[in-house]
Amino acid sequence: MSEKNDRASWIKGGQAKCCIPAIPQSKPRRLVLLGAPGVGKGTQAELLCAGLGMCQLSTGDVFRAAKCLSEEERSPAIKDALGYMKRGELVPDSTVLNLLRERTQCLNCGGGFLLDGFPRTVPQAEALGALLESEQLKLEAVLNYDLPIETIVHRLSGRRTCADCKAVFHVTTRPPRVGGVCDHCAGSLVQREDDRAEAVRVRMEAYDRSTKPLIEYYRERGLLLTIPADGKPEEIYHRTLAALAVAQPQTAAT
Ligand code: AP5
Repeated sequence: MSEKNDRASWIKGGQAKCCIPAIPQSKPRRLVLLGAPGVGKGTQAELLCAGLGMCQLSTGDVFRAAKCLSEEERSPAIKDALGYMKRGELVPDSTVLNLLRERTQCLNCGGGFLLDGFPRTVPQAEALGALLESEQLKLEAVLNYDLPIETIVHRLSGRRTCADCKAVFHVTTRPPRVGGVCDHCAGSLVQREDDRAEAVRVRMEAYDRSTKPLIEYYRERGLLLTIPADGKPEEIYHRTLAALAVAQPQTAAT
């Protein structure tokens, strides 16, 4: 496994540079992850980035990192966003799009990218399409992870995340070697605020209403690859690689 990129350019935005830059690839992969909250996108992102060399660009991680800023450092838009997030609601498109535009350098990274949690609505997908076109970049595929709701709720309630490096664990299915301690950086493992039952319900509703239509949006554009997200993380990872290798994205008839 390659050394993990610190993603400073993505997390901080603006002119921030990564301390450990991604290794340039001869054919950088440019992918989007879709799927309900808790389906395992972050877990797959970690495996895919380690295997294929691109960076995980998660909008949720940018907002969570903003929580660590002092009151004075937080812009009004970020303060607003944190309130939406805590309740499990989607952050307004305008805030998310500003955040992406401040990070255009990450889309141009020679290591490629894996967008996780963005786009989340059709207007966000349209804005991404326009931004990529203006940068003369093309998406390779959109990976749509699919799983029954009961399994998702089990995954979310047992999730623990490293407070420092953001690595993801599960109390029973992906436990850390030492309880409560991150395997990668020895940081403390914590439960996310939006994994509380009430916030999970709101997130699922937001997914059904705003994010599910993206499946059709990307299917129509010939970019969608649907991947069953049951089984062990490594099995799903190999399923994803197989789907990418034969990348024949689905048409409405499949
Ligand atoms: P975000 O951080 O994007 O969260 P999410 O989409 O709700 O997805 P999660 O991170 O909860 O789940 P995941 O699918 O990555 O699952 P994981 O791999 O951790 O967004 C958070 C909030 O930010 C949003 O609600 C919104 O408010 C705001 N926001 C962000 N982007 C936005 C945007 N573009 N527009 C508007 N608002 C935005 O897995 C879950 C658990 O399952 C883990 O414990 C894991 O160990 C376990 N697990 C994973 N795979 C397996 C497996 N195969 N078998 C068993 N267990 C598994």
